[in-house]
Amino acid sequence: MEIFHISAECYPVAKVGGLADVVGALPKYQNNAGHRVRVVMPCYDTKFRKENEFECVHWGHVKLGNFNFSFNILKEQTDKLEFELYLVEIPELFYRKEVYGYEDDIERFLSFQMAALDWIIGRNEIPDVINCHDHHTGLIPFMMLYCDKYQKLQNTPSMITIHNGLYQGQFGFDKLYYLPEFDLAHVKVLEWDNCINSLAVAIKCAWAVTTVSPNYLNEINYSANGLESLFNLVRYKSKGILNGIDIEVWDPATDAMLEKNYSLKNFEKGKQENKEKLCNLFNLDPSKPLFSFIGRLLEEKGGDLLPHASALALSEKFQEINILILGSGNAVIEDQLNSLLTDYKGNYNTFIGYNEELAHLIYAGSDFLLMPSRVEPCGLNQMYSLRYGTIPIVRRTGGLKDTVIDFGDDGNGICHDQASVGDICYSIQRAVDLYDDKKHLNKIREIGMNTDHSWERVCQEYIEMYKLIINKK
Ligand code: GLC
Repeated sequence: MEIFHISAECYPVAKVGGLADVVGALPKYQNNAGHRVRVVMPCYDTKFRKENEFECVHWGHVKLGNFNFSFNILKEQTDKLEFELYLVEIPELFYRKEVYGYEDDIERFLSFQMAALDWIIGRNEIPDVINCHDHHTGLIPFMMLYCDKYQKLQNTPSMITIHNGLYQGQFGFDKLYYLPEFDLAHVKVLEWDNCINSLAVAIKCAWAVTTVSPNYLNEINYSANGLESLFNLVRYKSKGILNGIDIEVWDPATDAMLEKNYSLKNFEKGKQENKEKLCNLFNLDPSKPLFSFIGRLLEEKGGDLLPHASALALSEKFQEINILILGSGNAVIEDQLNSLLTDYKGNYNTFIGYNEELAHLIYAGSDFLLMPSRVEPCGLNQMYSLRYGTIPIVRRTGGLKDTVIDFGDDGNGICHDQASVGDICYSIQRAVDLYDDKKHLNKIREIGMNTDHSWERVCQEYIEMYKLIINKK
């Protein structure tokens, strides 16, 4: 099968969040299962772009009303990714410091989507399926169906995979003229809540809709930032497929970013050495349990609860635990977290920013990982932490509910129901008690390390979904 993934992120080319990890891994496993897989993404000014060789395989222009952008399609030459990578190069739109967050994001990602389609229709072969990811690629299923220019793709099945339904890529009808020509009888398809809503458009037009966990699919039927009724309407073509993790990249036995490699056989000693390294780096106490947080400091992730919860847990349990935070996001949360540094010196530290290598060391060297998310479509960090023998402490939501079961129910982690300071601290208390019972603690770590979250199995579920829509042709 020839599969195209179109996405704004892909690890290791450019990463903001979990979307990149999924689009960096799923294609690789599909490729290894014998399919021809191509990933198409914007060309950002990243290290990967600078350090690797590319060949220009196509070029052209996209026209957004009066704006005209020339683009190149660059194919990666080294084959080190185990799938074919194509970058859509539009320097004036994408050679910037950040991936997202600009006033002209609509223009940027619309140009990207149009350039990608322009190249795809110019090729001799038509793909078997086009898998779009999140709202940045949400107009593709519409353009394939209705824009005269892309008529060649009218019968090509498209699928939208929703990694996060909170972000929807809305814009006003004053920008309707950006879109390539289509029969205006279809203009209603673009509309949701008086705007053009890229994600809603994809949900309406794609032949199949997937979310990144089954439980998230249940939740969005009653809580989806305004799209609830739409999700109800498309249940017949929707499926929740739980993400996997790349067990080659995330393997404590071979991970080059760790101080000490370890496996199920020697994890206690291995984890302790990584913990000591981490505690040295961050001036923490290796004899005390270490609780960490890795991720974006946003309300969505419960980031706003961390300053208060940390202060409370550290003052009640002062000197009994360590807390380490790695992440960036909301500046107010960042400041609040940093303001605790002096009071809890020696037991608390932060790293504001993101560092992939440090993240790996934290998964290995921590005892517990905090994930108090309000919304978590799947969550990958809990799966990484399980694999590294670190016990996740999660709020029961989205994919966290699908992957973490409380140790009280013979599970692999610690769960609470509310995204609240009280619930987080209660879970920390339970974790401290568990930490004192080493036998029990190690048993739960083992359950976690034994959990299979590899893509091999999951990747087949995607293929089944593609087959289903291909058969509808
Ligand atoms: C988004 C979601 C996260 C999910 C990831 C990959 O970042 O917030 O829950 O795991 O996408 O699908």
